[in-house]
Amino acid sequence: MQVHGYGVPEHGQPFVPVSFTRTDVRPGEVAIDVTHCGVCHSDLHFVDDDWGATVYPCVPGHEVAGVVTEVGAGVTKFKAGDRVGVGCMINSCQDCDACARGDEQYCEGPHSCTLTYNGPKVPDGTNSYGGYSTAMVVREEFVLRIPDAIGNEDAAPILCAGVTTYQPMKHFGLKAGDRIGIAGIGGLGHMAIRIAKAMGATVVALTRSRDKGDEIRGMGADEVLVTTDEAAMEKAAMSLDMMISTIPVKHDINPYVGLMKPSSTLVLVGNMNGFDDVQTAPLVFHRIALAGSLIGGIADTQEVLDLCAEHGITPEVKSIPMQQIEGVYDELRNGNPRYRHVIDMQSLKDDADARGRAQEIPAPVRGEAARR
Ligand SMILES: NC(=O)c1ccc[n+]([C@@H]2O[C@H](COP(=O)([O-])OP(=O)(O)OC[C@H]3O[C@@H](n4cnc5c(N)ncnc54)[C@H](OP(=O)(O)O)[C@@H]3O)[C@@H](O)[C@H]2O)c1
Ligand SMILES: [Zn+2]
Ligand SMILES: [Zn+2]
Repeated sequence: MQVHGYGVPEHGQPFVPVSFTRTDVRPGEVAIDVTHCGVCHSDLHFVDDDWGATVYPCVPGHEVAGVVTEVGAGVTKFKAGDRVGVGCMINSCQDCDACARGDEQYCEGPHSCTLTYNGPKVPDGTNSYGGYSTAMVVREEFVLRIPDAIGNEDAAPILCAGVTTYQPMKHFGLKAGDRIGIAGIGGLGHMAIRIAKAMGATVVALTRSRDKGDEIRGMGADEVLVTTDEAAMEKAAMSLDMMISTIPVKHDINPYVGLMKPSSTLVLVGNMNGFDDVQTAPLVFHRIALAGSLIGGIADTQEVLDLCAEHGITPEVKSIPMQQIEGVYDELRNGNPRYRHVIDMQSLKDDADARGRAQEIPAPVRGEAARR
């Protein structure tokens, strides 16, 4: 099938309209008309090659919501017309211990998991293309059901921002009544506030942005701690049972460790570029765990979609047309998104001019639909 999208042809270049062929549905796969796609800060990291692993052309997008248009032979979970989502992964071995326990993101199979875009591990030129595009084809095990109570635009950010913050809260045992800190209140952070509240925690939002205080309280945070306010940081010393840090860049972690109670866990989901100096004595003396976490498995993604439906949790969405994507990346680079941009894909479907000047790029891969 011929698909249109927006992609970055080479490192340092701007987004341009692209077109490419996705292989039609095979047994076990689902074809999806993309209606919306969230813009995650990880999309920016990939486009800018911050992690040194980007294969160009890069067509990002891993908060994908749409409608099923066709199902392949043997598909049992979905039918045409269903509203569905695709998150950060489109494939994994389905056989290893990690896949068996629902941690497909940590797949130990020969190819690990296949990310929705920039997926194949070896940068040999093969690539996967994500949801900044009009249609996707994905094996049914990696397709999520969007609950009736949530519209597609609101569902999109749950598929990465939601599950990436929910999964470590669950894994590291957040309990009702615990005090959790959420550091960095952007796309992930604001979803984390709402999800942690739904789990019964007391939420302390950690932000550099004093002017966001009222908005953040409006999202349900019990307390707002401005991280540049040294007196407030000191007063909050050793007060948190858990922290999820979404801060996207290298920074000084030590003041954040200072906020942790004995036997607590500080989970990093943002910064992947290391720290210059981690003082280890506080970790040792107070049995504080410094941990990391990568997105969440398929069952947990469905679980957080259902949790958001049950608790009426939706993201703060700013709807944008596909053509405005460069401006959104500038906002993310400047560190002040409010709070999640979601592309309305109708904007590209209606844009005959963009489709007319689209650059044809090589076809993407998506791996096999195993066991068929
Ligand atoms: N581990 C995973 O599986 C996973 C999944 C998705 C995303 N991520 C990563 O998580 C990070 C956050 O993603 P996002 O989409 O939530 O990003 P975002 O919307 O840009 O939000 C990041 C927030 O961090 C704070 N921040 C930004 N620049 C900062 C700086 N220089 N120093 C300190 N704080 C800063 C800002 O909050 P304040 O103004 O409130 O301080 C900003 O709103 C990214 O690095 C992304 O790649 C990881
Ligand atoms: Zn993401
Ligand atoms: Zn596996």
